[in-house]
Amino acid sequence: MARFAYVNGRYLPHRLAAVHIEDRGYQFADGVYEVVTLVAGQTVDEGPHFDRLERSLSEVAMAMPMSRRVLQLIGRELIRRNGVRDGLLYIQVTRGVAPRDHRFPVQTRPALVMTTKYIDFASQPKFSDGVAVITIPDQRWTRRDIKTISLLPNCLGKQQAADAGAYEAWQVDTDGLVTEGTSSNAWIVTSEGRLVTRQLGNEILHGVTRRTILTIAVEEGIELDERPFSVDEAKTAAEAFVTSATSFVTPVVRIDDAVIGDGTPGPLSRRLLAWYRDYMNGSRQTG
Ligand code: PDD
Repeated sequence: MARFAYVNGRYLPHRLAAVHIEDRGYQFADGVYEVVTLVAGQTVDEGPHFDRLERSLSEVAMAMPMSRRVLQLIGRELIRRNGVRDGLLYIQVTRGVAPRDHRFPVQTRPALVMTTKYIDFASQPKFSDGVAVITIPDQRWTRRDIKTISLLPNCLGKQQAADAGAYEAWQVDTDGLVTEGTSSNAWIVTSEGRLVTRQLGNEILHGVTRRTILTIAVEEGIELDERPFSVDEAKTAAEAFVTSATSFVTPVVRIDDAVIGDGTPGPLSRRLLAWYRDYMNGSRQTG
């Protein structure tokens, strides 16, 4: 089936879709983005993703390219045209096209790109087998709460993980505390069964999946702490996992050379994944 991308007002065949070389996203990584999960052709947690998009834009002094309602309609139309059921909707807004100059252009309109991607979530061994993570120094800027397209440290970290045969790299601050993965939030379960993930702040992205998992955990009566944890604490935790729009709840079974639990996905991680799947396919109401 032909695949379309939405680029600045037009639905173009994916292979012909392009932006101008003076788009500030291309030149300065001057833009923000969102990744929204699609399950059975429906977006998951669309509202919180649009809330975060609006917040990211306002934090970098950019306006919404159009109303939220119109953005939603474009997203739906693209999902329909592409016939995509499971996968993701990618939304990117940059400050637009202007002659290269670090200062903001005066009259440029924001540039908007949307794409979809098919992902076969059912056949991914990461959910059943778990994954390895490595730990690396967090080299990013101090506003990690903004979902900027400026992702070079994240790409370097993810590649380092891949080179080490791992799925993700957990980034670590100068106090030895885990901030988050390069494209996911980090979690552990203590030996007392308490769920731990770092509290919100500028140090991490405010994950939409993180938020939903916290809501589910509260509903299920699971004890939880939003606080930082060290690499040492993580390595001796009963369980660990990562969350994101594409990882859902992915169990972590190894951190660097330390095996987590018995080296297989822990029971709470598996239950959270099952509840989250129910939530995504609409069989669980939450919040
Ligand atoms: N990444 N932390 C970082 C640095 C991320 O890039 C992401 C998401 C998350 C999890 O956020 P959410 O639960 O809202 O997906 C945490 C997306 C999936 C990406 O860049 O592809």
